[in-house]
Formats: sequence, structure tokens, C-alpha cells
Amino acid sequence: MRNFISVKDIGDIDDMVQKAMHYKVDPFKDKELGRNKRIGLLFLNPSMRTRLSTQIAASNLGMEAIVFNIEKDGWKLEFEEGAIMSGNTIEHIKDAAPIMGSYFDILCIRTFPSLVNKYEDYSELFISQFIKYAGIPIVSLESATLHPLQSFTDVITIKETFKEQRKPRIVLTWAPHIKPIPQCVGNSFAEWMNTWGNCDFVIAHPEGYELDTRFTNGATIAYDQVGALEGADYLYVKNWSSYADYGKVHCNDSSWMLTADHLLKTNNAKVMHCLPVRRNVELSDEVLDSASSIVNLQATNRVWAAQAVLAEILHNLN
Ligand code: CP
Repeated sequence: MRNFISVKDIGDIDDMVQKAMHYKVDPFKDKELGRNKRIGLLFLNPSMRTRLSTQIAASNLGMEAIVFNIEKDGWKLEFEEGAIMSGNTIEHIKDAAPIMGSYFDILCIRTFPSLVNKYEDYSELFISQFIKYAGIPIVSLESATLHPLQSFTDVITIKETFKEQRKPRIVLTWAPHIKPIPQCVGNSFAEWMNTWGNCDFVIAHPEGYELDTRFTNGATIAYDQVGALEGADYLYVKNWSSYADYGKVHCNDSSWMLTADHLLKTNNAKVMHCLPVRRNVELSDEVLDSASSIVNLQATNRVWAAQAVLAEILHNLN
């Protein structure tokens, strides 16, 4: 693996889950692998889990990690080829990225979409320009359209907790929110579930919230949440704004908030969310604080997912 941008970069998912679980058992077993290697973590957006888990993963592998809140502390970057930089951008990506490439061995980037221009967001300009100009491996810490480290963690958590000799029924169920939210987590989870394939995968959402079929292709789509939850082993709760009417909020039906009543028709489903979560908007307290919730296990597993990915990249560097 050189870059980690989507599920397409990971190879065999089950094999990578096993590698991550080995780090969970023995976090420091490869502490020499990243010796004298430096990783840069660039954030254009706030983060708790992604930032801390990736720093811990790098440290477990013996790497030095430097965090740069580029949006707050750096120069405003220009991405357009041939731009006349007489506006508010100060440094071109063509100038900034190679310098970062000389400072670091691996560069990790977190950026969000504008939710205004679908075509710009879905072209993943920011990540692709860093890949083009940095000259070192690039890891997505969440991009405009995908959140691969989160989805890898989600597969790890499902495999760790599902003990039956059959495929689990997994339902990604849309939840209300107070503002427009990117589609990245939903897109990414759908793409990973479809690629993994060892599950019956359903996406439930109100009409108008269809995700990009490039990611959902193969999944069953349901507009009836109650029917979709029947017999579910896992409920992945997440809000996203409209993809078709890009970035817009069509309906915010509070009956889609997951409550204890929703769990009654499931197969004692475990409840997942990437966090942070708006309590009593997306998910009720009674669910989040119950034994059904595995959101903290998901967040804990972020470390092992990041460690397995960084280790794969380091093996290719060494
Ligand atoms: N799930 C997730 O990416 O959390 P943070 O935004 O806190 O990193």
C-alpha cells in the first residue's frame, strides 16, 4: 500500500482486520518499524478521534507525529492550475506540498466538502493534489467524499463482536440532524460493506437522501426504516445531507431518531455511530447509554485501524 484514500487501497479486508487485531493484543510489537520516520497530520477541520488515534498509532510504531492545523495556522492554499493569485489564497499547492513531502515520510490529511459544489467536492481536489505534488504516501483522515479509516474501524468492530456462523444483517440508518452534514461516512461505510461482502447490507433513509450509487451499488435501499430494522444485527446510525440536491436538507423527520422502541424489532442489534453524536437528535440517550451501544468500542478501535494502515505503508517504504 502506498496511499490510503479508500477501500480500493487496502487489499484483503479480512487480512487487514487480522493485522489490526494483532496490534490490539500487542500495540508495541512493531515499535521499531517507524523509527526515524516522521508523519505529518494536516487538519482543515476539527477532530478528536481521528487526530488522537492516528497520533497514538504512529507513536506505537515508533514514529514522530507532527500535527498542523493548516486551516487555522497555515497560509490559505490555492489549488487551481494557472490561477492568478490576486485573491485571498497565498500559497499554491504546487509550492506547499513538495515542501511537506520533504519534511515528512507520510502525510495524512483531513478535509471536509464545501457541500456547495458537488463536482468540486466529488473530484477530491485537495487529496489528489497532495498525491500529485507531495511525492510521499498520503493517508486520508476523512476527505470530501469518504472516511476510510472510520470504515475500516467499523469492519474491525463488527468482526470483533459478531460471533455467529452466518452473515450479519447490517443496516445503515439515516438520522435527523440540525444542519447539513457531508455524505462521507455513509458513502464510505457503504463502499466498505459492499466490498467486504460478508453481510446482508441495507441502507434506510427517507426519499431524497439517496447516496452516490458509485458507493452504494449492491446495497438494498429502504425508505421504510421500521421494516428495514427487522432482524438487524447492527444498526449504523448516521445523518447525511442530500446528494442529488447537493448539500440540502429535505426532511428532518424526528421519527428517524433511533430510540429503544426501534430496537425492539431487531435481532438484539448492536448500535454504531462514528461520533461525535448529537444526543437525542440522532440517537436517544437510552440507546447510547445502553449495552446495545458499541460506539466507544468503535472509537477505541480507531487506533488499531490506523496502526495497521500506517504499518502497511511503512513496510513499503522500508
Ligand atoms: N469519527 C471521527 O472522525 O471523529 P473525529 O471527527 O473526532 O475525528
